[in-house]
Amino acid sequence: MPYGIMWRRHRRAFHEHFHANTVHRYLPIQVKETQAFLRRLLKTPQNFMHHIRHIFGSTIMSITYGLPVLESDDPYITLAEEVLQGASEAGIPGTFLVDLLPFLKYVPSWFPGAGFKRKAAHYAAINAEVANQPFITVQTKLAEGTAIPCILTSLLEEFPGNEELGRAEEELISRNTAGIAYLAGADTTVSTTQTFFLAMAMHPEVLRKAQAEIDAVMGINRLPDFNDRPYLPYINAIMKETMRWQLVLLELKNELHYIYKLLQPLYT
Ligand code: HEM
Repeated sequence: MPYGIMWRRHRRAFHEHFHANTVHRYLPIQVKETQAFLRRLLKTPQNFMHHIRHIFGSTIMSITYGLPVLESDDPYITLAEEVLQGASEAGIPGTFLVDLLPFLKYVPSWFPGAGFKRKAAHYAAINAEVANQPFITVQTKLAEGTAIPCILTSLLEEFPGNEELGRAEEELISRNTAGIAYLAGADTTVSTTQTFFLAMAMHPEVLRKAQAEIDAVMGINRLPDFNDRPYLPYINAIMKETMRWQLVLLELKNELHYIYKLLQPLYT
């Protein structure tokens, strides 16, 4: 998106609902989802990869749209996962010949070797669906008075009073802001949590120390929650180390570096 009014409004809309002093509103949903996650993990630990994907999909859907998701094969999550799959495929420079020979974008889609065009059209349609489907559902529920308060309902109800943009544009911004939360927030968090499971499997002595800290602070009768965080320095350190150890967006950083190297001759 080019820099301009629309870009600034998108960014402001997202920031309003996700800045450091706002996110505490979402703690109760996170606690509820975490407890459901732990119950699933206890019941079917072998499905931990699925459970990890489910907790973040469900948490973000609840916070952004106030919509429940199915235990498995949720149609919205399946669709959103396909968008992420498309993004990671297209995000690797050089996957398609058109990355290196940009003029190929002008060949018609029936042209031999233009499979990338058909693929792009397929993903463009799914991208639009992912943003539209839950948006329309919440809009309908709002009109019926049955919508659960969430980020999208407040975006739709609290358009800024200035006349800079019309109602249609403000609705588009609300739709996109809600849509991006899933796409930016689901894979990153899933990947970090999978890294945590890997780290604990590789370093059982750390797991034992972490368990001992939890048992010492809250005993065996209750689960930790966000209020306990200041009293769990070892757990906090593990969390930070998990994010540092296997950087989620390292691949993106490497890709940007690759693109920069490719374009460098143009600038020198
Ligand atoms: C472990 C989890 C996460 C990691 C590692 C991560 C990482 C990042 C990074 C590296 C950036 C780029 C920052 C920059 O431009 O310098 C970013 C931006 C962004 N992230 Fe995340 N993120 C995570 C979770 C989330 C979640 C849960 C959401 C939403 C619910 C989210 C939404 C966004 C958005 C919208 C941007 C663009 C911000 C802007 O340019 O204004 N991220 N993230």
